[in-house]
Amino acid sequence: MLSLQRSKFSLPKGITYLNCAYMSPLLKQVEKAGIEGIKGKRNPLGVSTKEFFTTGELLRKQFAKLINCKDPKRIAIIPSASYGMANAANNIKLRSSEKVIVMGEQFPSNYYPWQRLCLDYGARLETIAPPQTRTDRGKIWNERILNAIDKDTRIVAMGHVHWADGTLYNLKEIRKRTLEVGALLLIDATQSVGALPFSIQGIQPDVLVCAGYKWMMGPYSIGLAYYGPYFDNGIPIEENWINRLNSEDFAGLVNYEVAYQPGALRYEVGEHSNFILAPMMLEALRQINEWTPKYIQEYCSKISRKSIALLRENDFWVEDDKYRSSHLFGIRLPGGKDIERLKVKLKKKNISVSVRGDAIRVSPHLYNQEKELMNFARILIE
Ligand SMILES: Cc1ncc(COP(=O)(O)O)c(C=O)c1O
Repeated sequence: MLSLQRSKFSLPKGITYLNCAYMSPLLKQVEKAGIEGIKGKRNPLGVSTKEFFTTGELLRKQFAKLINCKDPKRIAIIPSASYGMANAANNIKLRSSEKVIVMGEQFPSNYYPWQRLCLDYGARLETIAPPQTRTDRGKIWNERILNAIDKDTRIVAMGHVHWADGTLYNLKEIRKRTLEVGALLLIDATQSVGALPFSIQGIQPDVLVCAGYKWMMGPYSIGLAYYGPYFDNGIPIEENWINRLNSEDFAGLVNYEVAYQPGALRYEVGEHSNFILAPMMLEALRQINEWTPKYIQEYCSKISRKSIALLRENDFWVEDDKYRSSHLFGIRLPGGKDIERLKVKLKKKNISVSVRGDAIRVSPHLYNQEKELMNFARILIE
């Protein structure tokens, strides 16, 4: 079992940081990689043409390992989740009789592309809201999703967990249903990959996008995406030189190429060789792969169990364990508790969580301990 890893971070003393879903703190080794990246440009002679490609290759390999994808060429380096989804949306045509399914209060980067696509084609955007009940909420929500997927469904765009309260979606069943009706499954895994096990081989989504600055512990403005065979011959949203075949040959760059680099590399953002962000992201993924999402999930479950039990005893509501993640979960308050007052109280005690919708979102990691979560729970109750 993993132990506390706080010494690997530079989090100031006295702060209880339960907010990795907002953004992760920086690992010391990732900071170091970034500083080395900055220093590298002091002398451009030290930046060889090969280096435009080498870090990217390692990065794709590490991400492929993290999501259990056999072919690193299916991975693209992207600047944001919305960028990754834009490349997907750019390559799907809809009929006006078709619909796109999204979840209630889904994160905007995985909502607006589908709103736009539906407007452009006169198609329907169907939102599957959670039930109003607190009994079996996650179970019923998952059933509603499965029931909504029918022969008119062209796309299901969703997360692995809900970003605001960690409700866990049964992607295995959802994938099965989408295949039955011939719909695409596009996943925004920004709030799960890195801390919750995911397998491309197991789920076989058509697209998976991840911003890198949360559970993958990278810097801001870099992320990674997977594109399945449906997108093999697609058109990227930008036409940059490095994504074309033979771009390694700097002397021949104006022998203009029609063909792209293989697999999903056509979808990579221009200047993805980014000599500062790419090495940082690589270092972060190496560490995550060493820890493994399975153990991160187990650790978060272990340190949060007692505090969740205490909260439930005091009429706070947390989703059934089977239908929520352990790295990200929402707490809903009993009647009479004022969320605004709680926010002020938590701030005073240097406890960082987020309020999203009507839930307090708690998102621990390996730098947290059980006693921090217990202290947080007691403050909510008192
Ligand atoms: C589920 C989810 N997706 C994506 C993002 C970030 O999106 P983008 O990379 O497009 O800024 C967030 C940020 O909070 C998120 O929670």
